[in-house]
Amino acid sequence: MSRPMVLRGGRVIDPSQGLDERLDLLVVDGRVARLGRDLDAPKGAEVAAVDGLVVAPGLVDLHVHFREPGDEHKETIRSGARAAVAGGFTSVCAMPNTDPPIDDPAAVGFLRAEGQRAGFAHVYPVGAISVGQKGEEMTEVGELAAAGAVAVSDDGQPVWNAGLMRRVLEYTKAFDIPVFSHSEELGLSRHGVMNEGPVSTALGLRGIPNAAEDVAVARDCIIAELTGGQLHIQHVSTRGAVEIIRAAKARGVAVTAEVTPHHLALTDEAVRGYRTEAKVKPPLRSAASVAAVRDALVEGVIDCIATDHAPHHYEDKEREFDDAPFGLIGVETALGVCIRELVVSGRLDLPELINRLSCRPAQIARLPAGTLAEGSPADVVVFDPEVRWICQPEEFLSLSRNTPFAGQELVGRVVMTIVDGRSVFARGADR
Ligand code: DOR
Repeated sequence: MSRPMVLRGGRVIDPSQGLDERLDLLVVDGRVARLGRDLDAPKGAEVAAVDGLVVAPGLVDLHVHFREPGDEHKETIRSGARAAVAGGFTSVCAMPNTDPPIDDPAAVGFLRAEGQRAGFAHVYPVGAISVGQKGEEMTEVGELAAAGAVAVSDDGQPVWNAGLMRRVLEYTKAFDIPVFSHSEELGLSRHGVMNEGPVSTALGLRGIPNAAEDVAVARDCIIAELTGGQLHIQHVSTRGAVEIIRAAKARGVAVTAEVTPHHLALTDEAVRGYRTEAKVKPPLRSAASVAAVRDALVEGVIDCIATDHAPHHYEDKEREFDDAPFGLIGVETALGVCIRELVVSGRLDLPELINRLSCRPAQIARLPAGTLAEGSPADVVVFDPEVRWICQPEEFLSLSRNTPFAGQELVGRVVMTIVDGRSVFARGADR
């Protein structure tokens, strides 16, 4: 068991308990033992003075891609889980689009075991919806759940078959796990490489219209209503999708939604210069779409923020824009991008940002996370909310470097991350 630990004098923000005050946090046996003023440190305890820093429940990312098995040169479970804690994430949900995909219980077990062995962030597997992620035959969802899958998704690919979406939303009810949907109508998006609009026209690149997302989100919300299954819409990027989700929620449909930091921060202008680091699915959209997803997050129509951390090798991203893969990395920039875009601008205060990066996502995937309540696992992030730093991908712990935020100033950075009461990341001591 790890040594007891006292974090002294930090600004403890825990939205799960409505807390925002200067307190000490005592960790014993991997759990939060007490929150209070001037706590006595037990004998042998490690004491860290964290004045001026925020102490919060560890962040929870519902959407990461670790590339193991199959593409370990881009990211392994270990490197991804290590990069996650450097970004303040103590729990991550790993998507199944590996090679081969996570579509059977043994693969789910492998992901979990490797995550535990790595000992950084908790790695929760998301099992595939369809065998081989081909969109045809449903996986053994119950067995995946029994093996530890916290959700199912075919992310990377949409479920093109509405009948399959119906069946999986029906079936998952018995296991009380959500269906995560990468909502994309391939008939509208298939040949596109960026957002359809004036920038794609100027660059001579084929576009993906907003409608490719809107149609798919509408379909999935209608099927969620039909079945009563728990639907979670991944990486929302359009106003249309927001309005459909809003209307579905108003009708009582069990739907939740996430938005990525990059869809909150960047428009399709980032693609100019044929910058493949900004090639992502769904694509970076217009300024009007960015405004819509920001407003939807603030209002709560979009429940939470998830990174869609998608590592790719630079040789793949060096290709012609048309041929480069979709995706960008996000776990090490998320907090700095979100504080810059949402807190500095006054859209959200820090407690609400932590709610959307920790408590809400933990609730959606029913994870034992997102709280510093006494007795809960001591998964904690300590960060400086004001420090300004330049994003330098060569400093990242991820094995990949594909970020459109390189060279930008971000605000707020993780100082220390604790998982199950163990310090797993301390800035400066991370190499
Ligand atoms: O840009 C993306 N990259 N979007 C996805 O849905 C999948 C991801 C990946 O796996 O690279």
